[in-house]
Amino acid sequence: MKPKILITRKLPEKVIRYAKQYFQVEMWNSETKPIPRNILLEKVENKDGLLCLLTDNIDDEIFKCALNLKVIANLAVGFDNIEVNLAKKHNVIVTNTPGILTETTADLSFGLLIATARRMFEANTYIRENKWKTWSPFQLTGMDIYKANMGIIGMGRIARAFVKRAKGFNMNIKYFNRSRKLDVEEEDNISFSSFDEILETSDFICIFIPYSKDVHHLISATELKKMKKTSILINTARGGLIDEQALYNALLNGEISGAGLDVFEQEPISSDNPLLCLPNVVALPHIGSASEQTRLKMAYQSLDNLHSVLYNNNPINEVN
Ligand code: GLV
Repeated sequence: MKPKILITRKLPEKVIRYAKQYFQVEMWNSETKPIPRNILLEKVENKDGLLCLLTDNIDDEIFKCALNLKVIANLAVGFDNIEVNLAKKHNVIVTNTPGILTETTADLSFGLLIATARRMFEANTYIRENKWKTWSPFQLTGMDIYKANMGIIGMGRIARAFVKRAKGFNMNIKYFNRSRKLDVEEEDNISFSSFDEILETSDFICIFIPYSKDVHHLISATELKKMKKTSILINTARGGLIDEQALYNALLNGEISGAGLDVFEQEPISSDNPLLCLPNVVALPHIGSASEQTRLKMAYQSLDNLHSVLYNNNPINEVN
C-alpha cells in the first residue's frame, strides 16, 4: 500500500502524476483559495504525509488529530507557519525547500531594490495616468545604487546570493548576523557591523533572516529613527520582522525615504492598507521565489522530502 498524503493546494498535473507514483494523493483542488481549516483537519486525519504551504497554520490542533502523520513537507524555505517543537513532540518530521529558491529570491530582492530606489512603479503609473508631458531634469529622480552603502541583516544562503548581485553594483557591503561568517567576509570581501551601525550608515537596508517570535518587529520605531532619512528598506523575508505601523509613520514623516516590501504582517495585505497609499512604497504579493522553474523544483523537492521519510526513513531537508 502506498502511503497516504494530503497536498493543501492545487499543483500542476505533471507534479501530481509524479506524486501518484509513490503516494495515494488527496489534494485541495484550488490554486487560489487556501484549504479551509475544517477540511484540513478532516483530511489530514488519516494521512502519513502532509505537503503544505506557508498559508497553512500547522499547530497543536493539527497534530492532535493527525495521529498517523510522520512528515510535513513545507513548500517554502521559511517554516514559521509550523510549530516545529510540537511536531518534534509528536514525532513528526518537518522539512523545507532550501537551496533551490536561493538565486530566484535574490534576483527578486535585488529587482525590488532597484525598482524602489529608481521609483519604477511610480514612473510606470505616471505614464499610464497620462502625466508625462515632457522630459524634465528632476522628474521622478531616485537614489543611486552604484557604490552606495548596502546593509544586510542576516547572512544565510539568500543574503549571500544577494551580496553577489550587490557586488556587481560596486556597493560597499556590510552585514549583521547573530554569528559572524568569517569565510563569507573573506571570500566576498564584506565586513561585519553592529546592528546599530547598519541602521545608521546604510543607504539600503535589506532583511534576510527567518522569522521567529524572538525577532518579531526587529525593525520598529526606534530602529527606523536611527536610519538615514535617505535610506531605503527592503524586506523579502517575513512581514513580522517589521512593525508596519511604525514603518508607515516613518515613511509618511520622511524618517526614511522608501520601502520595498514583498512580505507583510498579514497576508494577503488588504487593499486599504495605508502603506499602499504611499508613493514611496513598492509592494509585491510575496513572490520572492515565484519563477516557473523554481516553484516547480520546490514542488518536486517537497515530494522528495515526503518520500525520504515515508520510504527511506532518512529525511532530507529536515528542520526539526
Ligand atoms: C517563501 O517565503 C519561502 O519561505 O519559501
